[in-house]
Amino acid sequence: MESVATAPGKTILFGEHSVVYDEPAIAGAVNKRAKIKISSAKNNYTTFKSYDLAFEAILDTRNSSYKLVRGKPGIIRYVLNALSKFHDHSPIDIELSLNLPIGSGLGSSAAVTVATIAALFDYHGTPFDKEYLANCAHGVELDVQGIASPLDTLVSTYGGLVYLSREKKIVHFDNHLEVPFVIGFTTKYSNTGKMVRNVRSLKERYPELIEPIIETMGKIANEGRVAILKNDVDKLANLMNFNQGLLDSLGVNTQELSRMVYIARKNGATGSKITGSGGGGSMIALCPNNPDKVANAINRFDNTIKVNFSKEGILLNGEETFYPRL
Ligand code: MEV
Repeated sequence: MESVATAPGKTILFGEHSVVYDEPAIAGAVNKRAKIKISSAKNNYTTFKSYDLAFEAILDTRNSSYKLVRGKPGIIRYVLNALSKFHDHSPIDIELSLNLPIGSGLGSSAAVTVATIAALFDYHGTPFDKEYLANCAHGVELDVQGIASPLDTLVSTYGGLVYLSREKKIVHFDNHLEVPFVIGFTTKYSNTGKMVRNVRSLKERYPELIEPIIETMGKIANEGRVAILKNDVDKLANLMNFNQGLLDSLGVNTQELSRMVYIARKNGATGSKITGSGGGGSMIALCPNNPDKVANAINRFDNTIKVNFSKEGILLNGEETFYPRL
């Protein structure tokens, strides 16, 4: 018995952090994915390994603990939590392949969580649909991180470019943004849970100042939606730059992220901002004219990855066929 599920990473155009406080956000699935393969165990215990991340662990699913054989995977907490909720403790072998840089702000934890739960559902013949899957995956992120919006897990489940409304409704854009983006990432991991907690504590200390900033981020996301619908790339770029200033004021910027943001603009990116939780991780640059020049300039100090938005969300055994939820 073998089940394979893959789920995409994502990049956030507008609304990171403010989405935690119910402001709207815009994000898109990218063409880089996490793949989870679950098979009946070769031995009488559960293993979790990844050649890409160079780790191997033996899992104790009853006690949600593990023994490392090699490597040090942070992602293991998400997998253990998913197993505690959606698995019956029978021994299985779990293999993770990842072509997304981990901790880079590209939603690797959400992609792994969504793929793990979908593979477990398939393995057990559990009926599910995308809404249920996205809810379950959000529950895992909440347990592990303490605080999380449903954005990452929604985008990873559904795929495509989406607008998440204040009411947590997702609206899929019919048009696709064809304009090139470059993602720059530092070697410093971002820790989403920690960054979200930092912003929350800033908001508690200075509510009169921080709340209007968060509200303005929501307005930027709404304007961003209009800009995307009209294919207004100049406006999109301005909005990204405004948003960057506000993210900086929330304390999620770093020297490395700032360096990439300004190198991108100096080399012709019309808009550039942090994407994801910040504190490390990645930035996104809108490069209508010269993505290669921007990527090469960022690469002098940091790393880049070229991504495209992708319509594909969760795939089970390579296909988009799901049981309807009972
Ligand atoms: C992280 O990709 C996005 C944040 O807004 C956190 C979240 O939405 O859960 C920072």
